Amino acid sequence: MIPARKYELSEEDFERFRKLINQTSGIFFDRGKRDLLRLGLSDRADEVGAENLTDYYERLTSIPERETELRRLLDHLSVQETQFFRNLPQFDALRKFVIPEIVRRKAQGYRNLRFWSAGCSTGQEPYSLAMSLLDVLPDPDTWNIQILGTDLSESALATAKQGWYPERRLNGMDRLHRERYFRESDGGFRVAEPVRRMVHFARHNMVTDPLPISIFGTCDIVFCRNVIIYFTHETAKYVIEHFFDILNPGGYLFLGHSETLWKMSAKYSLVEMGDAFIYKKPLPRSLAGRRFIPDRRLRDNPLPPGVDSDRRESTERRDALSETDLINVPERADGGSLDDDAPQIDPQVGKARKSIDLGENDKAVELLLDSLKRNGDTAEAHFLLGIAYERKNDLEMAAESFRRAIFCDGTHSLAYFHLANMLERLGSFKGAVKEYRKAVKALKEDSPGRWEIDLDAFDDEALMNLCEWKVENLGGIEN
Ligand SMILES: C[S@@+](CC[C@H](N)C(=O)[O-])C[C@H]1O[C@@H](n2cnc3c(N)ncnc32)[C@H](O)[C@@H]1O
Repeated sequence: MIPARKYELSEEDFERFRKLINQTSGIFFDRGKRDLLRLGLSDRADEVGAENLTDYYERLTSIPERETELRRLLDHLSVQETQFFRNLPQFDALRKFVIPEIVRRKAQGYRNLRFWSAGCSTGQEPYSLAMSLLDVLPDPDTWNIQILGTDLSESALATAKQGWYPERRLNGMDRLHRERYFRESDGGFRVAEPVRRMVHFARHNMVTDPLPISIFGTCDIVFCRNVIIYFTHETAKYVIEHFFDILNPGGYLFLGHSETLWKMSAKYSLVEMGDAFIYKKPLPRSLAGRRFIPDRRLRDNPLPPGVDSDRRESTERRDALSETDLINVPERADGGSLDDDAPQIDPQVGKARKSIDLGENDKAVELLLDSLKRNGDTAEAHFLLGIAYERKNDLEMAAESFRRAIFCDGTHSLAYFHLANMLERLGSFKGAVKEYRKAVKALKEDSPGRWEIDLDAFDDEALMNLCEWKVENLGGIEN
C-alpha cells in the first residue's frame, strides 16, 4: 500500500480541526495527540486530493459533500478497539445480579427488556449482551427483547451488521459460548441467527443526535464503555445526563474500566457487584408500590356541539362519580380496585391493560374498542388504545387515540407526551414541539407521582426533563 502523503498541520489549522471534530463527535485531541491528528487528517486529505490541510479544511466545511466527508473523517479518527465479553467482571455482574434483578421487577408486568450499547463499534458488545441474556433467561421467548447497538462509524456498523468475525476476534472466549452462539462460515465465525435477531444496529451520534428514545423507548441498561474517555469533561457530562433520561428508574449504566462519573453526575448511585462497579439510576421512592387509576373527569373539556346526548349523559354520570385522581390501592386480579369507594374501571379496560403487558396488542385493541362502544369515551380507554396501537407501530391510529384521551381529560400529561412522540416519529416536528410543551405544562400541574410506571417507566421529573429537552432540540427543525 502506498503510504499517504504527510501534510503539515499549522497551529491555526490544529485549533480549528480539533474544534470541528469535538463539536461534531465529542472526540477531543489534546496537544499530546497533535501528531496523531495530523496523520489521520493526512490520510483523508490525500484520499480526496487536497493540496494541503488548509485546503482540506475548506473542503470539509464548504464542499457540497461535506457531510459525507466529515463522516468519513470521524470514522477514520475514532478508536474502534473492542472484543467479545470485554471486561469479564462486568459481564459476570450483568448475569448474576443485574439481569435477574430487572427480570424480577418486570416479570409480572410488560415483559420487555431494552439494552442500549452506545458506541458499539463492530458489534461485539451488543452481541455479548444478547448472549448474556440467553445464558441466564430461562424463558427468553416470553420476553420482548430489544438490544440496540449504535455508533457514528459506518464502517464499524457494517461489520457489526454482518456479524462475521475472523477466528482471532474470538480469542479468549470460552468453548461453551463459541459453540453455542457461533457458526463456522467462510473461514471465520458468524454470530448465530437467534443472537443476531435480538440486536438492531443504527448510526447514531450521541453528541449531536437526539436520544433514540422515540424509536427505541426507554432502556433498562446502557453500556457506554471506552467512549467518553475520548471526550472533554463537558461533553462527557452532557452525554451522561442524557443516558439518565433514557434509563428506566432502577436501570443501570455500565462505563469502561477507567471511566468514572466523579465530578460529572451525582444523580446515579455507584453499586459494587462482585468485582465490578456499576452506576444505577435510583428507583423513585415516591412511586414504590403505587398503582395508578387515571383521572376520568372531563374538566376543562366540555363536549363540543353535535355530540349526541347519550354520550353527554354518560359523561355527566362519570363526572359525578370521579372523586380522586390517584389512589394507592392493592391490585385485583381483574385489574380493578379493592377500594369500594374508588371509581370503578370497566373490567374490560383492566383486561386490556394486562393484554398490553403481555404484548397481546391486537387483543387489547379489540377489548378497548368494545369497551368504548359500550361505555362511551373515557380517557383511560383511549389512552390504552393509543399505547396498543403504538406498540403495533400504527402511529397514525395511536396519535388519534391519544388526541381523544386528551379530549376526555385535558390534564392527561402522559397522553400529551405520547401524542408528541407519535408526531415526532411521523415527522411532524412543529406539532410535536407544541404537544411536548403541553405535556410540560400538564406535568407541572400534576400531583407528584400521578402516573404509575408500568407503561413507560418514567418518573415525573425524568419525563419533564425529556419533554423540555425535546422542545429545545426539535424547536429549530422546520417543517
Ligand atoms: C473504543 S470503541 C468502544 C467499543 C465498545 N463500547 C467497547 O468498549 O468494547 C469506541 C467507539 O465509540 C464510537 N464513538 C465515538 N464517538 C462517538 C459518538 N459521538 N457517537 C457514537 N459513537 C461514538 C467510536 O466510533 C468507536 O467505535
